[in-house]
Amino acid sequence: MQTLKNSVILITGANRGIGQSLVKAALEKGAHKVYATCRDLSKMPDFGDERVVPLALDITNASQVANVLKATTDIQVLINNAGVLNAGTILNGERSTIEQDMEVNYYGTLNMMRAYATVLENNSPSRIINITSIVAYSPLPSIAGYAASKAALLSATYSVRIELAKKGVTVHAVNPGAIDTDMNKGSDWDMPSPDIVAQTILDKVENNELDIIPEEIGLGMYNAWKESPSKLAEMFHNMYHNN
Ligand SMILES: NC(=O)c1ccc[n+]([C@@H]2O[C@H](COP(=O)([O-])OP(=O)(O)OC[C@H]3O[C@@H](n4cnc5c(N)ncnc54)[C@H](OP(=O)(O)O)[C@@H]3O)[C@@H](O)[C@H]2O)c1
Repeated sequence: MQTLKNSVILITGANRGIGQSLVKAALEKGAHKVYATCRDLSKMPDFGDERVVPLALDITNASQVANVLKATTDIQVLINNAGVLNAGTILNGERSTIEQDMEVNYYGTLNMMRAYATVLENNSPSRIINITSIVAYSPLPSIAGYAASKAALLSATYSVRIELAKKGVTVHAVNPGAIDTDMNKGSDWDMPSPDIVAQTILDKVENNELDIIPEEIGLGMYNAWKESPSKLAEMFHNMYHNN
């Protein structure tokens, strides 16, 4: 499968932010059906398109994952977008919020990959698209629990990429820097809209790029990291101490 045209796609956290934009971008790509999932269906926007099938799904809830799986065994593309971000350092952050970041971003996404691996294999060629973050490469200390959860997710994404490589399932890691969503409320950075970023993500997926950095802020950070991991660490150190 090269393009997303006529494909059946499931997106988590589809009620707002990047997830909502990914639903719209998938429709524009000519998807046959989009399962738009979110925790609270009363918050799901009306996409005005009968190809959208809204479903309730909290990715940390094993029985909900199992029920949604039963109703969506026709998918070829799983987009693991749902995530949370809590502020706090490793030394002084609330332990409970560090655990919540891990529970949703890492274990929640693991739940989805483990539940859908066989379905995706059966429906191959197929794809898993995990939205991680540029902080998976290097932690920003003010959001250290989030960074650790995304580093864990990036590692798991790479493992699953190898596990499924011979089974017709392509596994993409999307590592954005900063996008203008609720997650970045209060930030004064000049950030791209989630609509633009979602289109870029799906363009790059169709182009078979495995590791996707969909916007300029993330690209700048990634290039610094590529030059030398300590360079990105120093950028984050400066941002942290300037706050
Ligand atoms: N914005 C950025 O700059 C940025 C950068 C790098 C990576 N990312 C990643 O991109 C993804 C989307 O972020 P966003 O910016 O669109 O954030 P957002 O606007 O805060 O949206 C987060 C989405 O995740 C959902 N969610 C949270 N916990 C969930 C759970 N347990 N089960 C199912 N859904 C859950 C939320 O649902 P509710 O409405 O019910 O809370 C919401 O739909 C996240 O994985 C985030 O880490 C974002």
